Amino acid sequence: MRQVMVAGNWKMNGSSESVKELIAGIKDGMASVTKAEVVVCPPAVYIPRVSGVADGSAIKVGSQNICDEDKGAFTGEISADMLKDIGCEYAIVGHSERRALYGESDELVAKRFAAARRNGIKPIFCIGETLEERESGVTNDVCSRQIDAVIALEGVEALTDGVIAYEPVWAIGTGKVATPEQAQDVHAFIRGKIAALNADVAEGLRILYGGSMNAGNAKDLIGQTDIDGGLIGGASLKAEDFLAICQAAE
Ligand code: PGA
Repeated sequence: MRQVMVAGNWKMNGSSESVKELIAGIKDGMASVTKAEVVVCPPAVYIPRVSGVADGSAIKVGSQNICDEDKGAFTGEISADMLKDIGCEYAIVGHSERRALYGESDELVAKRFAAARRNGIKPIFCIGETLEERESGVTNDVCSRQIDAVIALEGVEALTDGVIAYEPVWAIGTGKVATPEQAQDVHAFIRGKIAALNADVAEGLRILYGGSMNAGNAKDLIGQTDIDGGLIGGASLKAEDFLAICQAAE
């Protein structure tokens, strides 16, 4: 049985005060969350503060990115060791905003994925197609290509106990959520693709959906056979909304 996961991607939002309030609010509501694994990914500068408050609860902390190298002259980057040092267990890699706005290629994302794993951080590996790609009927090809970059570098076994977040770019921050059927189709494709290489890895792989998930639509999405949770942007910025998704996931 795959444990359902609900991860909050806070993106570049918050202040010292507001992140403290947000994490304290989530912590307060955790008694009502018994089944889902709950992860929050704050802006890097606030991770120590958030892990400090989350300490002693079941909430896990992740980063929004991770350097592909382990140490040295990489201005502006944060290494896996540093992230571990401040309490991170997870790291988002390959978010579509990183790919589209900061030019992260499939190969670079794969290297970031590899750096996380070799240093004991669990990657939440994001993939997904743009609207144009969906309309041209290449959704599965795009997801396949993004996954293949990781498999080429690390082998399919690197996805053992792994987490992939399928996030159609057209659904991110737009309020246009994929229908449960649309999402399930892609999730089933992803699991099938991995299963063709290694059935055990496919069985244990958690595939999250991301893109305008909220308390109202989470239950129907997560109810699909191959949807194992959600990566939540906008709706993770209010404790009440985020907790409602965690509860819907149960
Ligand atoms: P959204 O973002 O929930 O605001 O659509 C999801 C994400 O970018 O991970």
